[in-house]
Amino acid sequence: MVRVNENYLKLPGSYLFSAIGKKVSAYSEANPDKKVIRLGIGDVTQPLVPAIVEALHRAVDEMGRAETFRGYAPDLGYGFLREEIAKKDYQERGCAISADEIFVSDGAKSDCGNIQEIFAGDCRVAVCDPVYPVYVDSNAMAGRAGDYDEKAGMWSNIIYMPCTAKNGFVPQLPGERPDLIYLCNPNNPTGTTLNRSQLKVWVDYARQAGAVILYDAAYEAYISEEDVPHSIYEIQGAEDCAVEFRSFSKNAGFTGIRLGFTVIPKGLKCGGVSLHGLWARRHGTKFNGAPYIVQKAAMAVYSDEGKAQLKEQVAYYMNNARVIRGGLESAGYQVYGGVSAPYIWLKTPDGMSSWDFFDWLLENANVVGTPGSGFGPSGEGYFRLTAFGTYENTAEAMERIRRLKRS
Ligand code: MLT
Repeated sequence: MVRVNENYLKLPGSYLFSAIGKKVSAYSEANPDKKVIRLGIGDVTQPLVPAIVEALHRAVDEMGRAETFRGYAPDLGYGFLREEIAKKDYQERGCAISADEIFVSDGAKSDCGNIQEIFAGDCRVAVCDPVYPVYVDSNAMAGRAGDYDEKAGMWSNIIYMPCTAKNGFVPQLPGERPDLIYLCNPNNPTGTTLNRSQLKVWVDYARQAGAVILYDAAYEAYISEEDVPHSIYEIQGAEDCAVEFRSFSKNAGFTGIRLGFTVIPKGLKCGGVSLHGLWARRHGTKFNGAPYIVQKAAMAVYSDEGKAQLKEQVAYYMNNARVIRGGLESAGYQVYGGVSAPYIWLKTPDGMSSWDFFDWLLENANVVGTPGSGFGPSGEGYFRLTAFGTYENTAEAMERIRRLKRS
C-alpha cells in the first residue's frame, strides 16, 4: 500500500489565510448586503507603477520576436538582475555580497518554505512566537516539528521564543540550543522591529552556538527608523551564520507576478559543507528559473524612475498604517508596530480571544483582520491589521471601528 507523508496529517486543518478566506466567504454569502473590508492577508492593492509596467511591455515584445526570444531562464537568475541586486541592495549599503551569492526565485514564501530541505531532519528549529506560519508548517511537513498540541497551539519539537508587549516584542535567547533560528525583521505579524544592537545579539549568539539564522527581510522597504538594519549583513559576522530572504511582493507589488531572492554567502558553512553549494544544487534541480519578463520588470525597481514611483507607493501604504494606528488609538485600543512595517498589531479589548475578536469585528464592523493566535500561542489576545488596503477602505474601516467603540 502506498503510504503518504504522515507529517502532513499532523498539520492543523488548513493554512491560516485559507481558513480566514473560507470563513469570510461564508459570511459574505450569508450577508450579501454587507460590504466587507478585508484587512486580513497582507496582499497589496495598488497597481504596478508605470516604470515596471513599461519594463514588462518591453520584455513581452522581446519574447515575441525570434531574435530576442528566450526559453528557460538560468536557474539561479539572470546575471543582469543578480548584479543589480548585489550592487543596489547590498554593496551600496556596505555589505560584501556578490552577484553569485544571490539566488533569484519566484518569491520569498517558496524560499522560506523550501530552505529547510538542505538541513538535517533532526535539526532543532527556533521561531519567534507569534510567527509567519510558513516557517513552522514547512518544518512540520518535513517531520522536524514533532507533534501538534491542538489545545496549546504548539509543536512539541519547536523552540518558541515569545514576543509580547512584556518584552517589547524582542525575542530572548532560548534556553535550549537551536540549530536553525528564523527571524523576520521588520516583523510579520507584529509589525515591530529589531534594531542593530538587538540583531547583533542574535548574530553573535548564532556564531557562538554554531546555528544558522534564516532571516526574512521581505518588509525591508518599509523601514523608516534609522537604527533598524535593512539587511542582516549590515551586522558584522552575519555572512558566516545567516541566510537572507527578500521579496519583490511588498516593495514593488509583485504578489501576483511573483519574484524574490535568497542570499547565501559563499563562506557560510555547516560542518564544513557550503550551504551555497547545496542550495544551488537544490534550486537547479527543482526550479527552472523565474520568468524573463518578471526579472526584467524587477530591473525597473532599481531604476531612478522606478525607485521614485515605489517610494510613493510605500508612502501610500505607510499613510494607511498611520490611519490605522491613529484610528485604533482614538478608539481606545493598545497598538503596536506599523512604524517601519505595514502591519499593526493590537491588543484585543476586554480579554477577548483573538478568534472571538475576529468574529466580533466581522459581525459588527464587517472588517476582516487576522487573529493573533493563528500565528502562534503568544499571539493569543492580539489581532493583526494590514496597511495594504486602499486608503478609502482603510479609512472607512477605522471609522466603523471608532463608531463601534463609541456605541
Ligand atoms: C501575510 O499576510 O502574512 C502575508 O501576505 C503572507 C505572505 O506574504 O505570504
